[in-house]
Amino acid sequence: MPHPALSADHTAVVTGGASGIGLAAAIRFAERGLNVCIADVDEARLNEAAAKVGAAATRGEAAVMTAKTDVSSRDSVAALEAAVRARFGRVDVLMNNAGIQPGSKMFGPEDNWQRILGVNLWGIIHGSQMFAPNMIAQGKPALIINTGSKQGITTPPGDPAYNVSKAGVKAFTEALQHELRNTPDCQVTAHLFIPGFVFTPLTANGRVEKPAGAWTPEQTVDFMLERVSAGDFYVLCPDNDVPRSLDERRILWAAGDIVENRPPLSRWHADYADAFATFLKTSP
Ligand code: NAI
Repeated sequence: MPHPALSADHTAVVTGGASGIGLAAAIRFAERGLNVCIADVDEARLNEAAAKVGAAATRGEAAVMTAKTDVSSRDSVAALEAAVRARFGRVDVLMNNAGIQPGSKMFGPEDNWQRILGVNLWGIIHGSQMFAPNMIAQGKPALIINTGSKQGITTPPGDPAYNVSKAGVKAFTEALQHELRNTPDCQVTAHLFIPGFVFTPLTANGRVEKPAGAWTPEQTVDFMLERVSAGDFYVLCPDNDVPRSLDERRILWAAGDIVENRPPLSRWHADYADAFATFLKTSP
């Protein structure tokens, strides 16, 4: 059974909705008969996305709007909320999904760190804070789906600003769900969406064909909608290389760094290579 928020005539807002995972989600929502607002900072992509989502919409192009939005700006997200409410009157599904991954270095320029945290973390805080109060006041089941990353959980070396931003998304979304479930009469739930490797412009790196290990955006969104409808908070997506069982071992090992008093990121520490390899082979 699909979650009741995903019913025809309801309204979904997708940030970063003009490309990749967000676009696939916008198309799925439109196919199900929801009104869809595609919010994105990239105007050219927005126009292309509007045509694709409009073509998929069972209720026609009138059910689709676009909004040029920079999620790192509180004012821009406030304007988005007002525009969607003016057009469709309600919001049943908010997918805070906009994200960037330009790469980062520990001692790299501050403006790069600010930009990554601004979009990936502040974007999710702005979206949740601007939309949730009115969604709660509607008094109907509604969803806030925040796109995190496995890199925010196991924090592999190589892109520290991205990891920090996505670790923040995890902590924020956990706190948001705690807040919502302790709010009297609140029927809004929050969910942490954790994609695996998905072939999108973000990860394409010049490739035009999907690498065998990656999932498509559509596969990933279908998995997410199924798990959200089943009530999962942590929507941990596999891909063609990484089954859930491997993710579980990696996550447990990362938590074990603290419990076992190992160095941080010991998974990538030469002294722990054998121990980690053995750990992967043993079942809980
Ligand atoms: P994408 O690059 O295809 O789409 C991201 C969209 O966000 C783009 O249309 C872009 O214009 C928009 N955007 C960027 N900055 C924005 C801003 N300031 N305000 C509004 N929109 C903005 O990327 P993809 O792969 O679809 O990523 C979606 C989300 O999934 C991101 O949060 C990403 O970190 C996350 N993710 C992706 C994975 C993958 O393998 N593709 C894996 C794990 C997480």
